[in-house]
Amino acid sequence: MSSQACDIVIFGALGDLTQRKLIPALFQLARAGLLHEHSRIVGVARNEQDSTAFIQTCLASLQRFVAADYRSDSELDAFAKRLSYVQVDFKQPEQYQPLAQQLESGSQERVFYFATAASLFGLVSEHLHNAGCLNGQSRVVLEKPLGHDTESSNRINEYVGRYFEERQIFRIDHYLGKETVQNLLALRFANPLFGNQWSCKNISHIEITVAEKVGIEGRWGYFDEAGQMRDMVQNHLLQLLCLTAMDPPLNLSANAIRNEKVKVLQALSPVIASGPNREVVRGRYVDGQIDDKPVPGYLNEPGANQDSCTETFVAIKAEIRNWRWAGVPFYLRTGKRMKKKLSQITVHFKPPSHYIFDEEQRNQAHNRLTIRLQPDEGISLQILNQDQDLGHDNGLKAGSLRLDFAHDFGNRRIPDAYERLLLEVIRDNQNLFVRRDEIEYAWQWVDQLQAQWANDSTPPQPYPAGSWGPKGADLLTMKNGHCWHEDLPAG
Ligand code: BG6
Repeated sequence: MSSQACDIVIFGALGDLTQRKLIPALFQLARAGLLHEHSRIVGVARNEQDSTAFIQTCLASLQRFVAADYRSDSELDAFAKRLSYVQVDFKQPEQYQPLAQQLESGSQERVFYFATAASLFGLVSEHLHNAGCLNGQSRVVLEKPLGHDTESSNRINEYVGRYFEERQIFRIDHYLGKETVQNLLALRFANPLFGNQWSCKNISHIEITVAEKVGIEGRWGYFDEAGQMRDMVQNHLLQLLCLTAMDPPLNLSANAIRNEKVKVLQALSPVIASGPNREVVRGRYVDGQIDDKPVPGYLNEPGANQDSCTETFVAIKAEIRNWRWAGVPFYLRTGKRMKKKLSQITVHFKPPSHYIFDEEQRNQAHNRLTIRLQPDEGISLQILNQDQDLGHDNGLKAGSLRLDFAHDFGNRRIPDAYERLLLEVIRDNQNLFVRRDEIEYAWQWVDQLQAQWANDSTPPQPYPAGSWGPKGADLLTMKNGHCWHEDLPAG
């Protein structure tokens, strides 16, 4: 049970994120007994409707987004009692008064979740402050994307910062709420077997892939402004990179972890975007097939602007200039409409320095640690064994040790990232949230790349929907004698 009752106020209460993710996550917390019995959920939006209609909308979403095994009628009824709705046009200060009155009757612990456009974050904070809704126990949750570049992100942070202290601001990157992402810390720092090997001494290169099967899902306007670089790399991919590459934190406190992440971002080399030494490839999907069904290309999506130069795929060879990682390429790759949904980190270890086996296999078969973040969460480690075939003297054969989370941990339900994140906000624990300086360094790195693209009129390289991306992404790794994991023999 959470220690204190808390009012959770969601701005953008009828939007997709709230209905698809936040309401189901709060419902699961309530089911698990992790929401105090007096905690209330107040939906805020500008649509004219009453609480009864809002409750019906939320119940319909729960039927749709929560599997039947994880909801009963009595649990739904109990949850509905926590819900209410207040109509507010976010830009009209006087409309915040009814909300203030409603909050008066509840807990002093308040979470304001801004599931709205980031351009409104500052203004809503100001109006909440002026209406007397804020106190020292209030917290605010900011959804990504936080701005468009360093400057706009700073502007938003400063505006919100006038009304909330940094300790009250929870910046979401939902990848940090995924259990398998949190498990990276356990894997690295609780297992000396890996921890002691974790540097350029023993690791040749690391791949981080976040591939999606979905396209832009009707968000052409937003996506075309952002592109895959801002939508995925600036946040999710860089967070995964930080957790993979950072030094051991002093302890598990929020600041100790964030200090180490910031050091990784500071050590990232600027990326070269063109010429023979280019370290980045941009792609854009064209018509193709996914799961045997035809899928239109990006420029054939509804509402598409034919002049668009926006990328739906990015592959980058990143470098971290520090003692631990000098010379180790980190290949980051993410795209929409790819062959599979797959988020995975693959760590390739170097072969032994004194090699006594078949020379031809030296660079082909090596220890490889694969951390599968989603789906089929688990870990596998490729191990080399003597090939038992009589015809293969000194030959090696790869086999793997596997840990399959769903199976090995008793088929329990893996909570959605938003359940963990909302729970931590309610507990006032900043561990899984992004500090202001992290966002700033991440934007600076992305900005230098975007600035090079802005001066380059070459369109993104095409790749068929349902593939692993454009050819250029393969060349990026081949230049260093590497290849992406799906091109390697299974181990
Ligand atoms: C979001 C992006 O942050 O993450 C979306 O805006 C993307 O474009 C989504 O589809 C991917 O999240 P997940 O959890 O499905 O990997």
